[in-house]
Amino acid sequence: MAAVFRSTVPRCVPVLYRRAHCISSLREIAREEIGKIKDSGTWKSERVITSKQGSLITVVGHQQLEILNFCSNNYLGLASHPHIIAAAQAALQKYGAGLSSVRFICGTQDIHKELEHKIANFHGRDDAILYPSCFDANAGIFEVLLTDRDAVFSDELNHASIIDGLRLCKARKHRYLHLNMSDLEQRLREEKNARLKLIVTDGVFSMDGDIAPLDKICELGDKYNALVFVDEAHATGFFGKTGRGTEEYHNIIGKVDIINSTLGKAMGGASGGYTTGPKELIDLLRQRGRPYLFSNSLPPPVVAAGIKAFDIVLNSNNLAERLRHNTKRFRDAMTKAGFTIGGSDHPICPVMLYEERLASVFADEMLARGIYVIGFSYPVVPNGKTRIRVQLSTSHSDEDIDKAVNVFVEVGKKLDVIS
Ligand SMILES: Cc1ncc(COP(=O)(O)O)c(C=O)c1O
Repeated sequence: MAAVFRSTVPRCVPVLYRRAHCISSLREIAREEIGKIKDSGTWKSERVITSKQGSLITVVGHQQLEILNFCSNNYLGLASHPHIIAAAQAALQKYGAGLSSVRFICGTQDIHKELEHKIANFHGRDDAILYPSCFDANAGIFEVLLTDRDAVFSDELNHASIIDGLRLCKARKHRYLHLNMSDLEQRLREEKNARLKLIVTDGVFSMDGDIAPLDKICELGDKYNALVFVDEAHATGFFGKTGRGTEEYHNIIGKVDIINSTLGKAMGGASGGYTTGPKELIDLLRQRGRPYLFSNSLPPPVVAAGIKAFDIVLNSNNLAERLRHNTKRFRDAMTKAGFTIGGSDHPICPVMLYEERLASVFADEMLARGIYVIGFSYPVVPNGKTRIRVQLSTSHSDEDIDKAVNVFVEVGKKLDVIS
């Protein structure tokens, strides 16, 4: 034993030197990158919340204050809704914490099938497939669907997960100008011989709160024989009259071919994503979708929370109506106060500031006065398009909104953003 140990010592020394050298190179490279990010004023620090998600939260370092939260995707206030919590607790008791398996091995429970049916019915589609997240749903779909015989047309401001998903597929890629239908049409015209043509767009763009002209996109789809895919992460459950999303907002329910969306925003806020559309596509994704095949099944409490969220939305439109009221109240008051608010008609309200450093200073000043908002800067938004993204929720009261506006005005004047 001792002889073996002695003989390994000399071999270990260079290994240790090599590791130390590699680690110190890694640290140096990372430090350099971090330095550049900090110098450019785009460093993102994470604040630590010590309460449930909701309109009122507590934040480490600010325990003395009641903080009003205006930056979550908890659009319908369901993240801490008592019925959602009760459903998740009951599922935890009955089905356990998780499956320790992917779906096709032993990770499918009856509630996974129930949620998939519920999603498909909600959107009026054949079937649905669950993923650990919408990021995964977007990362998985294009590689399965599109080959080098196909062409894809993607809005230049689509979500990062769509961009990553498209990188994995071999189709010819066209990045059309944001919301620009003549650019899209021009590119569709160029692709006469593609086997499949697929137009890909966010329904609502998360950084700008602007809305895809889905009616026009579907018309172009009909004209050029192209399929239409929409990511409804910022629309499902609340956008459009009954929360069916961007299709409903444009009065074209059923026109879009494939919908991806998330359970991690309006629909309970836990996690999970899905694709819903033609049965054959869903069947194929179950066989070939890599984030589905090679990642764990959604945990039962998350699935039960998702089922309950769809039940709540299906039973009443009150939450979505309240959200529309809140959105209008905030947008109107802020515009009147002299701020430039991006997008339209949507609870994502980007308060445009343009200067990189200003956004984080502005957000800190807001937090010190009890309003939690976050500055968004490069690379999350383009250089020079820095903003504070406010997101309204059903759980905000009129008083909450008025308080936020008053604080915006106070800080805006202090920092010379408005006069
Ligand atoms: C448009 C859009 N698509 C997809 C996602 C990813 O959703 P998830 O959090 O479920 O991965 C997001 C979240 O930021 C998004 O805004």
